[in-house]
Amino acid sequence: MEERERIVSYKPISDEEKKFDLNLRPKRLKELIGQANLVEKLEISILAAKKRKEPLEHVLFHGPPGLGKTTIAHIIAREMGTNFYSTSGPALERAGDLIGILTNLEYGDVLFIDEIHRIPKIIEEYIYPAMEDFRIDFIVDKGPFAKAIKMTLKPFTLIGATTRAGSLSAPLRGRFGIFHHLDFYGVDDLEKIVRRTANILEIKIEENGAREIARRARGTPRIANRLLRRVRDYAEVRADGIISDSVADEALKMEGVDEKGLDEFDRKLISTIITFYNGGPVGVEALSATLNEEVDTIVDMVEPYLLKIGFLQRTRAGRVVSEQAKEYWRRWRENLRDG
Ligand SMILES: Nc1ncnc2c1ncn2[C@@H]1O[C@H](COP(=O)(O)OP(=O)(O)OP(=O)(O)O)[C@@H](O)[C@H]1O
Ligand SMILES: [Mg+2]
Repeated sequence: MEERERIVSYKPISDEEKKFDLNLRPKRLKELIGQANLVEKLEISILAAKKRKEPLEHVLFHGPPGLGKTTIAHIIAREMGTNFYSTSGPALERAGDLIGILTNLEYGDVLFIDEIHRIPKIIEEYIYPAMEDFRIDFIVDKGPFAKAIKMTLKPFTLIGATTRAGSLSAPLRGRFGIFHHLDFYGVDDLEKIVRRTANILEIKIEENGAREIARRARGTPRIANRLLRRVRDYAEVRADGIISDSVADEALKMEGVDEKGLDEFDRKLISTIITFYNGGPVGVEALSATLNEEVDTIVDMVEPYLLKIGFLQRTRAGRVVSEQAKEYWRRWRENLRDG
């Protein structure tokens, strides 16, 4: 499976979508939909930091892709009234890359590191003193001319984002003051997000239509926005341009997305466990081989939502499908048979 080709992909599937993603980002905390707990926590921390005229503590966001980690990092810088710089774990190849960025930060600036769990180990070592004491120590030259240089940095805020908090080393994790796990959004919040986007893009949509899209968006704002655009195309060509629940249903059925937001690949995973492994438990490596799909893709892009809706369980012995999932699969096959 090419993750890019999945309409329910958690990652942007085209450059055009990346542009949309950018334009649709809420700019202020007040504009953010859902995540009430996080918004409240951040409001307090930001106000307190501003009152003390200090940078915000370092923040770590973890959770599945497309839930707003980057968006919220931007919002924090805007609310703090500071500059925003962004890089990612894999982009930091040499210590010099990181040192260059750190030494250019102004007091209170936000440095956002996406996929922070993928920072090379040697570079991670430089981050510890930078985060803790706002200083970096490095060695220039080699052999007898080697010199240890200590540099003081201006206090800044590091915001890290990761889809896997478990892969972060303990010393790195320990240096963040604020942690937040972003969980999938509820249907009500997704419905609001769909309506907000429809409003921005001037898409005509009925309340039931927004609900229908929200229900199938796998708890993920990015997917909600993508499904909305896909349904809009359908509505313009096959209907009168207005998105109703039936238009949304027809459009998404055509894309292979069912009422739960599950697609072909989800069903393949469920049916594989049922038919080849008797419902499980089966190790993810075996699944990966049978499905001819990378372990990372299965773990990051397919399983989280199936776990969330109770279709799948991770046990020590491996993955197990639930009775609900078996029932779902039975119905799906019946429907196929009955056309
Ligand atoms: N709370 C929200 N309210 C409204 N829109 C949101 C919200 N959260 C995310 N979005 C929208 O979802 C899209 C994806 O958000 P974002 O890029 O911040 O996700 P992410 O968690 O950084 O994803 P990734 O892990 O892929 O980097 C953006 O276009 C943004 O507008
Ligand atoms: Mg992001």
